[in-house]
Amino acid sequence: MRTDRIVRTFVEYYEERGHRRITGSTLLPPPGDPVLFTTSGMHPLTPYLEGRPHPLGRRLVNVQRCLRTTDLDEVGDDTHLTLFEMLGTWSLGDYEGPRSLGWGYDLLTEGFGVDPGRLHVTVFGGDERTGPDTASLELWQERGVPVELTVEDNWWSNGPTGPCGPDSEIFLWTSDTPPESTPTGDDRWVEVWNHVMMRHRRLDDGSLVPLPQRNVDTGLGLERLATLLQGRRSVFDCDVFDPWRETVPSRWELDGTSLRVVCDHLRSALVVIGDGVRPSNTGRGYVLRRLLRRVLTLLRQDGPGRGLGDLPEELVRHTLDRFRPDGDPGEVRRVLLDEERGFLRLLERGRRVLDRPRFRGPLTEEDFHYLHDTHGLPRELVLGIRPC
Ligand code: SER
Repeated sequence: MRTDRIVRTFVEYYEERGHRRITGSTLLPPPGDPVLFTTSGMHPLTPYLEGRPHPLGRRLVNVQRCLRTTDLDEVGDDTHLTLFEMLGTWSLGDYEGPRSLGWGYDLLTEGFGVDPGRLHVTVFGGDERTGPDTASLELWQERGVPVELTVEDNWWSNGPTGPCGPDSEIFLWTSDTPPESTPTGDDRWVEVWNHVMMRHRRLDDGSLVPLPQRNVDTGLGLERLATLLQGRRSVFDCDVFDPWRETVPSRWELDGTSLRVVCDHLRSALVVIGDGVRPSNTGRGYVLRRLLRRVLTLLRQDGPGRGLGDLPEELVRHTLDRFRPDGDPGEVRRVLLDEERGFLRLLERGRRVLDRPRFRGPLTEEDFHYLHDTHGLPRELVLGIRPC
């Protein structure tokens, strides 16, 4: 099942159950939001989870692009991407968790044809502040799905403060061997769908107060589900990456992990630029800069002449068509190439400075500060020129 059909099946299933489709937002949260990028489908809906009536009602469904850069070191494995799409549903003070979980189970097994024997779930087991989530536990027991109870892993929040609550995560077994162990015990269980019983707000002092309404917020990782439904092992092998696999390896010879990181970071950079961010030394612009510098470093590792000028044009267009149909591919390429030129100039300056006698030995913390403050050379760039 290709991703477009997965999206259609998902949205129609929830529309048939009274949900209205809302348009996904860009990657940029509204002004004043402390988080740099949209990291979850619920993010743009925070005011409605906190009680403001939504113009389209209490049952919503959407597809939201998300960017997560907290797991950067894991990108290149089989399941992590910086940019991904999340299929989401919300009950804004309408139905409760068990109904959401029951629908989720039916859609996975009947709508998407997942073998129920390959499912495992986790449920919040309770802590000193909040009791165990017995309603979810009972629902799963009725359906005959094995349950693992956890505490920290089954509490979801979008940040240190704000809406939060216990969650129940649905995992799929990804190996050809019969399922074994539990989600926390074996990483062949891959999480695909999270249902959060979002009914608390965490305050600055860490205490929890009830939200004005009891919500359910769910998020299903599109690329992960597509990978499993398409019988692939890695997210980089699902149809989303078809055009990348078809064009990038013939331009740039890269080892397996570097190829994945280059494709992931470039795809994210294209969408981040398409959503209006420009490279800079702070905030979102700095996240973009770091993604691009990592790409450039990997490209130049085995081929100093390789650069973004070789990026296939159809990839820029293809990516913008999906996420930002009104984006200008020419402008996005210009931003990439400007950033590359700036990086190469900085690299040159860094080499000259690091050749000075003062920096011959091992670099100290003081050296790193000096190189950064006086010469504008960030630590990761210095380490790229001279690994410790
Ligand atoms: N907010 C939850 C998550 O991101 C469910 O969508 O996992």
